[in-house]
Amino acid sequence: MAEPLLAIAGLRSGYRDVQVLWGLDLAVRQGEIVALVGSNGAGKTTLLRTISGQLTPNAGTIRFNGTEIGGRAPDTVLSAGIAHVPEGRRLFRGLTVRDNLLLGAYLRTDKAEVARDLDWVLDLFPILRDRQRQDATTLSGGEQQMCAIGRGIMSRPRLLMIDELSLGLAPRMVEHLGEALLALNAKGQTILLVEQDVLTALELSNTAFVIENGRVARSGPSAELARDPSLSDAYLAI
Ligand SMILES: Nc1ncnc2c1ncn2[C@@H]1O[C@H](COP(=O)(O)OP(=O)(O)OP(=O)(O)O)[C@@H](O)[C@H]1O
Ligand SMILES: [Mg+2]
Repeated sequence: MAEPLLAIAGLRSGYRDVQVLWGLDLAVRQGEIVALVGSNGAGKTTLLRTISGQLTPNAGTIRFNGTEIGGRAPDTVLSAGIAHVPEGRRLFRGLTVRDNLLLGAYLRTDKAEVARDLDWVLDLFPILRDRQRQDATTLSGGEQQMCAIGRGIMSRPRLLMIDELSLGLAPRMVEHLGEALLALNAKGQTILLVEQDVLTALELSNTAFVIENGRVARSGPSAELARDPSLSDAYLAI
């Protein structure tokens, strides 16, 4: 079988005095939606930050598209094809929705294609088309999440990583965002999704990994994990 798009082995990472990931293994295949679930503090955000180059691994490998990227600078990881939509969205105050979206493409030189991608993002999230001249931080929570995801798409990543899709959003908005992710995935976008809500995560993804104390405790096809009573006992109540 071909090498996965992203292959992580034995990853150890964390912060100055705190090790958070203790030998984590994970694979994301081209074209998949992979979900990461696990309780607060399990290490999901730390994992995404390590992949995107904000944290340097202490040990282990992160292979992306056949190349080792562990410890590379965030810009290098972004140009290699990984976009990270951070927890809390982090849009730029004082910049319009349109400019926030265009910031996602700041490393690209194919301007005509960038304009086409902007149009496609505004088709994917029509509300952003109406609000494109507005300061992005004045959007509603759900609209901000659309803008943050749109900004990620604007780098035309091979892998789109989203941290906490549904946090603080109403169920109808989560459903709407989920549909947008499925539409993106149907066009070939590979997605790594961190999601607190286990039902939403398993519903949207093909494969899921349960992270516990910085290691993978369970993994497998999402449909199988969704039927597993031991998983539902432990995690559906989070
Ligand atoms: N900047 C930091 N400095 C030191 N420790 C940190 C820092 N950020 C996170 N941690 C610690 O790392 C551990 C893992 O945090 P992380 O944010 O990766 O968890 P998470 O799985 O994303 O949790 P949540 O579901 O609450 O977002 C926690 O114990 C946290 O306190
Ligand atoms: Mg987190």
